[in-house]
Amino acid sequence: MGKLDGKVAFVTGAARGQGRSHALELAREGADIIAVDICEDIATNGYPLASSADLAETARLIEELDRRVVASKADVREPSELRRAVDEGVAALGRLDIVVANAGICPLGGEVPPQAFIDAVDVDLVGVINTVSATYRHLSAGASIVATGSVAGLISGGTDNPANGPGGSGYSHAKRGVSRYVHDLALALAPSSIRVNAVHPTNVNTDMLQSDPMYRVFRPDLESPTREDAEIAFPAMQPMPIGYVEPIDISKAVLFLASDDARYVTGLQLKVDAGATLAVTSSGAPG
Ligand SMILES: NC(=O)c1ccc[n+]([C@@H]2O[C@H](COP(=O)([O-])OP(=O)(O)OC[C@H]3O[C@@H](n4cnc5c(N)ncnc54)[C@H](O)[C@@H]3O)[C@@H](O)[C@H]2O)c1
Repeated sequence: MGKLDGKVAFVTGAARGQGRSHALELAREGADIIAVDICEDIATNGYPLASSADLAETARLIEELDRRVVASKADVREPSELRRAVDEGVAALGRLDIVVANAGICPLGGEVPPQAFIDAVDVDLVGVINTVSATYRHLSAGASIVATGSVAGLISGGTDNPANGPGGSGYSHAKRGVSRYVHDLALALAPSSIRVNAVHPTNVNTDMLQSDPMYRVFRPDLESPTREDAEIAFPAMQPMPIGYVEPIDISKAVLFLASDDARYVTGLQLKVDAGATLAVTSSGAPG
């Protein structure tokens, strides 16, 4: 018996990283999966996004778990692409219970053009809103929506440090927006018994973190920092003695929020951050 037997989950950004990990964790607990990813790059984002081969590998791994999967290429900035993917998935799998709005970019860098602000907000905030809009009409009482925020949306002077350029500022703006959107949407949907929660990761060991633009953020003292150079600096983010969490650590939080174990949990801003936000928030203060 899995915690999600008989349920269907829609996951954005599912080709790799946290999205793949979430899709597999939900599938291990019995859910069938509708998976989407952009499967191409965005010009202002200084590291490659996932490929069609990555998405196909996610689908293969889900089938290996004996779960059904409908995977397709869709850009969360495009409502019509999302609606097509969701509608085709629901037609094939019969229902929709869980929505995981996870897709994201982080177009950091002082040399990156202002378009990076627009792109970060379009993917990281509007993409979450589009995901809810495309899925809502398939949801009913008991459904769960989980959006991926970030510690960057809960603190100041992180990615929105001016040295990180307009994309860093857009990223923080978007993640603050996700947090606020989740709060207000949770209140609006509570009478329908549809829950809405956010997870806010610290550094996660994925291609977004393990990228040249991010290495430069963590090692501004070096011109071309390597992964080894950045690994020395990553632990500065977290009071717990680690450089980053693993995707599965976030997936366990997503599973809890998606499952009936959390049946009366809504509007939660769940930090999985090894203490990253503690130093900048006062004891017991909300938010
Ligand atoms: N890695 C970190 O340190 C970290 C920390 C906090 C929050 N996050 C957030 O976690 C989420 C997942 O990121 P990740 O760490 O797995 O990075 P990742 O780059 O490995 O995965 C992001 C996925 O989203 C996809 N994607 C990007 N733009 C898309 C679009 N427009 N439409 C559809 N798919 C798109 C990418 O192709 C990729 O597969 C993001 O929302 C990110 O902002 C990451």
